[in-house]
Amino acid sequence: MLSNRATDTEKRKSLHGHWSSRMAFILAVTGSAVGLGNIWKFPYVAGQNGGGAFVLVYLLCVAIIGMPVMMSEILIGRRGRRNPIATMALLGEEEGKSRHWQWVGGMGVIGGILILSYYSVIGGWTLSYVFKSVAGTFSGAGAADVTAARDSFLGNWLAIGSFHTVFMLLTVFVVARGVERGLEQAVRFMVPALLLLMLVLLGYSINSGYFGEGLAFMFTPDFSKLTWDSVLAAMGQAFFTLSIGMGSVMAYGAYLPEETSITKSSAAVAMADTSIAILAGLVIFPLVFANGLDPADGPGLVFITLPLAFGQMSGGVFFSTIFFILLSFAAWTSAISLMEPAVAWVVEHRHKSRELAAMTIGLIIWVLGVGTVLSFNVLSEFKFLKGTIFENLDHLTINIMLPLGGLLIAVFAGWVLCRNSTADELRYAGTAFKLWRVLVRYVAPIGILFVFLKSVGLLPDLS
Ligand code: PHE
Repeated sequence: MLSNRATDTEKRKSLHGHWSSRMAFILAVTGSAVGLGNIWKFPYVAGQNGGGAFVLVYLLCVAIIGMPVMMSEILIGRRGRRNPIATMALLGEEEGKSRHWQWVGGMGVIGGILILSYYSVIGGWTLSYVFKSVAGTFSGAGAADVTAARDSFLGNWLAIGSFHTVFMLLTVFVVARGVERGLEQAVRFMVPALLLLMLVLLGYSINSGYFGEGLAFMFTPDFSKLTWDSVLAAMGQAFFTLSIGMGSVMAYGAYLPEETSITKSSAAVAMADTSIAILAGLVIFPLVFANGLDPADGPGLVFITLPLAFGQMSGGVFFSTIFFILLSFAAWTSAISLMEPAVAWVVEHRHKSRELAAMTIGLIIWVLGVGTVLSFNVLSEFKFLKGTIFENLDHLTINIMLPLGGLLIAVFAGWVLCRNSTADELRYAGTAFKLWRVLVRYVAPIGILFVFLKSVGLLPDLS
């Protein structure tokens, strides 16, 4: 039985080609995982949710929910070797269950489109700071100048809109060419370089005189500040930063060579991703306190603290330029993975060329992105449910769609796929496999459901 399945799936090939090596795959998933989520989002959500306790919950979520779900996505992707919708339909049927699991894939494809619609706007914002850095805007600037520069950029819809357009064009360009050509090379250089520059910044922030405060803010958990909403935000952040719960990793898994170890690759990606997020926090918070800023400032936080730090450094123009180039790269490699599931679906189902598919999906995302562009200026007072259009998209995708997608993927890997199928893909049967199985069958689904119900107040308070 086991060997039959193995030969079946070995014959299955992806229409879109395969990664050239295990290293290429790890780099691609790392490129997807490391992005604005680590450097832009993590510090500000941690700041808004009180710091220490949030960070602890986030780390816990990465370890016991994120890792096993990431492994599940990769194994599902590799077993099906199609876009997430077709893969889930195929495997659901093959296991004698239902094709309707395709709706989970469908939610992922839509999630990717919605996330990219605002991700691209922030990516464009990053890109614009490359130009501001070159122009010396931040040289010797104080907190008030940097804040004013940010506000004037955000107030100008044409400026944000133009950079959003450029960022989308870049993304469409790479996706249209296919993932193997171009992307692998970029990531190979980008991640180590980004890490190096973060270390330079860490040196600066250690010397800022406020490193202790930053450290305390991040690592002293004050559970009295932790609400169920912030637990949900920590869980959502864990999903977002690892790129899981919406099919990106599943799509990348479909191009994974047979012999690659899923466990080792996932561990490598999770390590790299978490280290960069923690490092970003260690850089940002001391600078926040040193400059008398508010850690709960929101989406603009890194666009204030980092330019300030660079502005005071010797060689700041150079470092600032390099930094924002690298961050744009990091955002770019993530954006590609956000688009890949939808494009793979169009190519497979509508029999369109990759170029046409990428352009069509890109256009849809660009139009949706205009909502976020305007959320910072013309429509900043237009608020409903959770706030502006951007805030609603952000909440819907990160706090609802990703955890829900993760929950269903865990159930699929743990309950729909039979034991042999998963053991076959993961290539082991020992204690580690048993642990993975307990995590996807019980810990992840129950944990996610519990946090959901708690945060909407559907479970009674026992304390
Ligand atoms: N992980 C990316 C980041 O941290 C964002 C992302 C989310 C990419 C979901 C793909 C899928 O920036």
